Amino acid sequence: MTGQNTRTGKVSVFADKAAASRHLADWLLQEALAKQNGPFSIALSGGSTPQLLYSMMASEPYASRFPWARMQFFLGDDRFLAHDHADSNSGMLHRLLFSRVPVSAENVHLIPTADTAEEAAKAYEAEMKAFYGADTLQPGRPLFDVNLLGLGSDGHTASLFPGQPVLKEQTAWVSTCVPPVAPYTRLTMTYPAIDASRHVIFLVEGASKRETVAKVRAQDPACPASAITAMGELTWVLDRDAAPADQ
Ligand code: 6PG
Repeated sequence: MTGQNTRTGKVSVFADKAAASRHLADWLLQEALAKQNGPFSIALSGGSTPQLLYSMMASEPYASRFPWARMQFFLGDDRFLAHDHADSNSGMLHRLLFSRVPVSAENVHLIPTADTAEEAAKAYEAEMKAFYGADTLQPGRPLFDVNLLGLGSDGHTASLFPGQPVLKEQTAWVSTCVPPVAPYTRLTMTYPAIDASRHVIFLVEGASKRETVAKVRAQDPACPASAITAMGELTWVLDRDAAPADQ
């Protein structure tokens, strides 16, 4: 395992979001088909950027080629909302992907609702541990094959927001966050859980993110995404507008 971070990770730049999304759909298909020893596990991102990718995966030529029965889906973070709420990442993924492809419900691990966000976080962590088969992350043994992340202009990723206690969490795999700037209480995978990935992929598009991409690649400590690491590889998949000028 190479153990890359936001500075050492590879940068791939594409003409636009559609080209970047299609590249990722092709790459995910290749990785999923190549995985023979056990299920292909992927943690998906919320937000708007990856929605084109999810729609592509649910359409031809991908929908009939992904090995859905050998795939396990997780969600990197969500807003603490009912899944039918317009701003729920779980609801968005159900609409765009899981309701349109032949994946069985037991392979889709959306973030559960509960009476409190803390209870939902504990339930989700238990589900991840049951899938992993252990209560502690083992060095060199990833939890996910792929962890797809977005990037907020303030440098957050998943729901790891600046100045929040969750940034110090090194034991729990899932925690809560109440970002002062973003709406809703959030549930998020923590740094250790995201690190336990063979591949971490940042999918970022748009000129509004270019400065933040540069800061995170320089590991600016003001950006929570700067501390993201991968057990294996970390790759930036960018459109031209979000890419640094020298790429
Ligand atoms: C969320 C996401 C979050 C997102 C970034 C970028 O729940 O909002 O998980 O981390 O990836 O905020 O969002 P956009 O893709 O909408 O710019």
